Amino acid sequence: MTFLTKSAARYGDIFKFHILGFPMVMVNHPDHVEHVLVRRAENYTKQGVVIFDLAETVLGNGLIRTPGGPDHARQRKLMQPTFRPNVVGFFTQNMIQEAIHLTEMWRPSAGKGTPVNVTDDAGQIALRIVTRSLFSADVSETARDFELAFADANEVLGSLFRNPFPPLSFPSRRRTMMRSATKRMKTFVENFVDRRIATNDVRDDLLGMLMRATYEDDGGHMPIKQLYDEVLNLVIAAFETTTSGISWALYLIAKHAEVGRRFVNEIDTQLQGRIPTYQDLNNLTYTRQIVDETLRLYSPAYQTMRAAIEDDDIGGYHVPAGTNIYLNSYVTHRHPNFWQDPEKFDPERFTPEAIAERPKHAYFPFGSGPRICIGKYFALAELQLILAIVAQRYRLEIPPDQGPTVADQLITLHPRGGVRLLVHER
Ligand code: HEM
Repeated sequence: MTFLTKSAARYGDIFKFHILGFPMVMVNHPDHVEHVLVRRAENYTKQGVVIFDLAETVLGNGLIRTPGGPDHARQRKLMQPTFRPNVVGFFTQNMIQEAIHLTEMWRPSAGKGTPVNVTDDAGQIALRIVTRSLFSADVSETARDFELAFADANEVLGSLFRNPFPPLSFPSRRRTMMRSATKRMKTFVENFVDRRIATNDVRDDLLGMLMRATYEDDGGHMPIKQLYDEVLNLVIAAFETTTSGISWALYLIAKHAEVGRRFVNEIDTQLQGRIPTYQDLNNLTYTRQIVDETLRLYSPAYQTMRAAIEDDDIGGYHVPAGTNIYLNSYVTHRHPNFWQDPEKFDPERFTPEAIAERPKHAYFPFGSGPRICIGKYFALAELQLILAIVAQRYRLEIPPDQGPTVADQLITLHPRGGVRLLVHER
């Protein structure tokens, strides 16, 4: 990240560098980000892109990794209705119950002077939320193995990105770890799908909706192999990103007393002690600003790539067909032309007036264009609800003797060792 930030400062908004020996063009200007993700999205594919090739064994042909174009559009059309804001509202019950569960988990530690590992606990909750929403299932027993398998895969893929040797094609500890992790994650989700099919159970959860959805062109249902891939893609996409988001948000609130006071004041005034509902979220505007600013500083899915299908021109630079394009929201979210004092945590950057003054693509934690995060509204509701419910019950504090929490650049931006905070009953 330091290398890329320094390179952007030195070479400007578009420059070439190498990852894993591959030439890569980084675009850092909001106009260039918009060009690749939105305006000329049809010319930028995930086909043959190193980061997605590495993840092929895990992600298969699911939405995250599928190259793009008409196949992606067809699949996305089938899945999109399941993630509309009104449908997400239906799943917020799970988020609310699990957020309450999180506050219960912290009760024994409250006021005892022993920090809780927010990231470990939020991870459990985030996984329970997505699996309950997908499968209507309580995953307490098998969840830990999924979490460990995911952590291994995140570690292997993150480290491969920095140091490609030995590659996954060589027999090595990495390969063994990755194979085992992939198998365990696949088994976790496939068991749920198989059981549903075997019992012919009809449910109004995400899995049920995806099984009933039909393709627009031929009216058919999703083939089983595709269903396995999509379901694992959803669990993976939803689990670690929201875990990191919750962790960083609670860390930043604990670190910034004035923000914390305004936040609690909003929660108390708007909710008057009531448990929040989906309908309350529109009124929790400062909470949303905190979420937005957290995702600016610690954008969990901080990097992505595309390859140019045909020759193009980006901001006056010739981009030959086949060029790999690299986008890094961690770096763009600190672009000095659009963000004053970029390292400062300041939710005021996300008032409607402040947003209107910036180019739209100076901020893209959920990506943009046809491949924008399908779970955006799900994630935002989850983050707002969990923050609100935690704040109703606890004041969080960074242990006085603790050093700064740093970000590990895995496939996601993970707080190293987890965010550790002291919890005090309010
Ligand atoms: C704070 C939480 C989250 C963040 C920051 C995030 C971020 C992103 C980003 C940046 C992309 C675009 C990647 C690219 O262009 O290559 C993406 C795609 C995706 N996300 Fe999320 N995500 C989050 C939560 C979720 C959740 C909760 C779900 C599902 C319930 C989800 C499902 C997906 C899927 C399926 C895609 C692929 C969409 C496509 O290519 O059509 N994400 N996400």
